[in-house]
Amino acid sequence: METVGIGLLGYGTVGSGVGKLLSRNADDITLATGKRVVLKRVLEKDPGFSHPDLDPSLLTTRFDDILEDPDISVVVELIGGTGAALEFQLRALKAGKHVVTANKQLLAQHGAELFEAAEESGVHLRFEASAVGAVPVIKVLRESLVAAEVDTVFGIVNGTTNYMLSAMAETGADYDDVLAEAQRLGYAEADPTEDVGGKDAAAKMAILSSIAFHSRTGLDDVPFEGITRISATDIAHGGRLGLVAKLLGVAKLIDGRMNVRVYPAFLPKTHPLAGVTGAYNAVFLTSDAFDEIMLFGPGAGSIPTASAVIGDIISVVNTVNGSFVRNCLCYKDVPTFPDAEMVSRFYLRLRVNDQPGVLAKLSALFGEHGVSIHSMVQEGRGDEAELVLLLHPVREAQFFAALDEISALPDVHGDPAVIRVEGDLKTR
Ligand SMILES: NC(=O)c1ccc[n+]([C@@H]2O[C@H](COP(=O)([O-])OP(=O)(O)OC[C@H]3O[C@@H](n4cnc5c(N)ncnc54)[C@H](OP(=O)(O)O)[C@@H]3O)[C@@H](O)[C@H]2O)c1
Repeated sequence: METVGIGLLGYGTVGSGVGKLLSRNADDITLATGKRVVLKRVLEKDPGFSHPDLDPSLLTTRFDDILEDPDISVVVELIGGTGAALEFQLRALKAGKHVVTANKQLLAQHGAELFEAAEESGVHLRFEASAVGAVPVIKVLRESLVAAEVDTVFGIVNGTTNYMLSAMAETGADYDDVLAEAQRLGYAEADPTEDVGGKDAAAKMAILSSIAFHSRTGLDDVPFEGITRISATDIAHGGRLGLVAKLLGVAKLIDGRMNVRVYPAFLPKTHPLAGVTGAYNAVFLTSDAFDEIMLFGPGAGSIPTASAVIGDIISVVNTVNGSFVRNCLCYKDVPTFPDAEMVSRFYLRLRVNDQPGVLAKLSALFGEHGVSIHSMVQEGRGDEAELVLLLHPVREAQFFAALDEISALPDVHGDPAVIRVEGDLKTR
């Protein structure tokens, strides 16, 4: 029976999961592929690296040991980052080895270069685990829906922030306390910046929108905002209005142009994404061809992510020297739809002087910019009042022009809290 050698770069959280699954499920993998898929070498930085599940004789600190091994035809990159990982992937692809990776930042920042190298060498570059972990959203977009004209990819693509927002809603605790608890429980990294700041979700949305719309979107094309400014106060107000806060990745194709962004947003409690709590992820896909599809599951974790990596390895092994869906499906060049032209609904919380005439000034400024109010709640706080407004959908440029003028009024105190509202408030 033919043997396929795997060179694994990195034996950390996901790499060790891949090592475990390759040995635990060896018989199933052989039945699925008709080949023996064998872990031949593992690259780690530290020569003294050890792991209870790793045969030390497989360990190397020299990438060339993997590159020069003629029995290794698939390199699985799980070290992360955009430094050594880029060099290793490019060298492997140029040497004619297939590459499987979970590295979202690398693909979102250097995808064009990597796909070009794969194409030139006629090898596969697979990356299912780079977005939404174990959930096979990339395979569904690349294969099942490749010609279905998907026009929206919309969802929760970061488990850390979803865990934190869910905990804030359940306990009423504020951001800092929930972050500390998430770090204690292992849901957030010691340095949580990429997750809470939205960069992790933005890289995933760059990858997903590139595949969905067949047009290259890089990290630089995705404006992102995280959850660091979401307060317990806004979550509580949202709850009273029947809304749940989520960090959303939103990619839309509008009249032949695309808009891809990451921002925190309120959703009606009845929206299917509102019920996705804890560290879970879920992605909504829409198209005229099939209306809506929702994919839901764990977006991270050692074994869940490793299972997506193994699926890619099997897909590569089964299609070597055969025809298969192209590596890169970005064969269009779809222009960007500007953020300012997007029509959105907003939640706005303002602290104002509790005096006659203030509301009239606000209403006048909203009116001048064509912004209309859906509902408003006012709560007195001594000399101040807190206003919580839900606005009707409006061009974002109009809303932000009104907001700039409103924020500058002497009657308005502090920074207003602004959160987009997604989903249909009436029908969902
Ligand atoms: N963790 C998840 O749930 C998850 C989910 C989806 C996707 N991913 C992606 O999967 C990739 C791996 O993530 P992970 O969580 O498994 O990371 P990790 O636990 O930090 O593992 C990475 C391993 O690679 C080693 N390494 C780093 N640089 C190296 C180099 N230049 N040469 C050799 N070895 C090197 C690290 O060693 P040191 O510890 O000594 O640096 C570590 O053992 C990342 O791209 C990540 O975004 C992870």
